[in-house]
Amino acid sequence: MNMTPDRWNSTCTYLDEVFGQEDEHLKQLMPRAIEAGVPDIAVSPSVGRLLQMMVKTVGAKTIVEVGTLAGYSGTWMARGLPEDGMLITIEPEPLHADVSQREFDEDGLSDRVRIVREVGLVALPKLLEELGEGSVDVVFLDAIKYEYPDYLPFAKSLLRSGGLLIADNAIGSEEWSVVNPAGSHPNRDGVDRFNRLVADDEDFDACCVPIREGVMMARKR
Ligand SMILES: C[S@@+](CC[C@H](N)C(=O)[O-])C[C@H]1O[C@@H](n2cnc3c(N)ncnc32)[C@H](O)[C@@H]1O
Repeated sequence: MNMTPDRWNSTCTYLDEVFGQEDEHLKQLMPRAIEAGVPDIAVSPSVGRLLQMMVKTVGAKTIVEVGTLAGYSGTWMARGLPEDGMLITIEPEPLHADVSQREFDEDGLSDRVRIVREVGLVALPKLLEELGEGSVDVVFLDAIKYEYPDYLPFAKSLLRSGGLLIADNAIGSEEWSVVNPAGSHPNRDGVDRFNRLVADDEDFDACCVPIREGVMMARKR
């Protein structure tokens, strides 16, 4: 298939239109956040749908997300949880954490979401100690791309057997792509290393869904 960048963009728009239907709360969430000063870097509606589907498919009760932003991906995932489920989402930027808390409250998700206001590499070891090994059903990585290889050991320890590790930007972003040469961007190198570590890890069955900027998904054996 010959995918020019234009054709790729219109394909992603098509996927959002057909599979990414949002209700009014989700539709207005990022515009409200951008108005409040949050950058426009959330996952797309069809990635949100994919995340929610994965949460429901594994029957997740506990999710850890690294990188909350305004709570767009978190809302998709938290809505897929049962009433006694919990999304623990890590966000060190106070504005983002405040905006996302408001969004979760307004969507009636406060009792299912806990925001941890720390950087991922501080929060993850603490969560591992608090929750224990094998206690989490889904870990979603969407924070500092060059840190993905450093998040990996914590994510792997947190996940139960059959749990899912999911990572956004597994093939690139506006600034870089995994197919660019090594050394061309720290995020390219970090994500490339992360992808290869997961793909070669005998404890994971891994694949990448190339929608939007690529979503890596790996099931812990
Ligand atoms: C791409 S955005 C997350 C988008 C969100 N998952 C969504 O789709 O709605 C990345 C977020 O990670 C946060 N962040 C920055 N440094 C971080 C760190 N060291 N650990 C965890 N999160 C960090 C940023 O403030 C930003 O809100």
